[in-house]
Amino acid sequence: MKHLYIVANWKANKTSSEAHAWLIQFLNQDLISYLHQNTQLKKTIIICPPFTLLSELAILFAQYDLPLSLGAQNVSHFPEGSHTGEESAVQLAEFAKYVIIGHSERREEFLETDELLRKKVDESKRHMLIPIYCVRSEKDPIPDGVTIVAYEPQSAIGSGKAELPSVANSVATKIKKINKISSVLYGGSVTPENVHEFTSQSMIDGVLVGTASLDPIMFSQIVVNA
Ligand code: PGA
Repeated sequence: MKHLYIVANWKANKTSSEAHAWLIQFLNQDLISYLHQNTQLKKTIIICPPFTLLSELAILFAQYDLPLSLGAQNVSHFPEGSHTGEESAVQLAEFAKYVIIGHSERREEFLETDELLRKKVDESKRHMLIPIYCVRSEKDPIPDGVTIVAYEPQSAIGSGKAELPSVANSVATKIKKINKISSVLYGGSVTPENVHEFTSQSMIDGVLVGTASLDPIMFSQIVVNA
């Protein structure tokens, strides 16, 4: 059985009270019994909330020993220091194990370049944060040291029009061939209904979920169906 990563990208959504309500609903009876029955389960569930919620979710996950990991959605390319408004890798590593780098929304809205993204990967690695490096096609360069890539075609993000699983699989194959990448995830309009079509592809090792991850019931169905 291959190891799957199921990643929730909440983007700039959820207040503290909304995150608590999400967690209570996410850990519903169906999901709990599924997790109990599948103790050998090879699924890593990673929640990537906004920075504002990282520390409180880290405390909750630890307090209740939840089978969930935390990821940040971005990291500064600067080390800690005088960089107003930035969050450095050493600060994030206090709470998160993973970090999303190079999401197409950051490339477009914040003009993040390949060179800047390479620095973010270097900073993350220096502090043991594992990058989940997003590419829009197999043509986007992948910095050295990246092991998990999320392939997210722009047309599929938030559009309700997921890519054909076979096409995503062939891009994942190319990404693994060109680079020494161990895991390629697919992202873009993943739902409880289509998730298995992606995770059953030979070269796809999980999913990065935006919109459907905001709904706790939908996201728990994605975890079960993947
Ligand atoms: P989506 O977003 O699931 O809403 O398409 C995916 C992403 O942006 O990571």
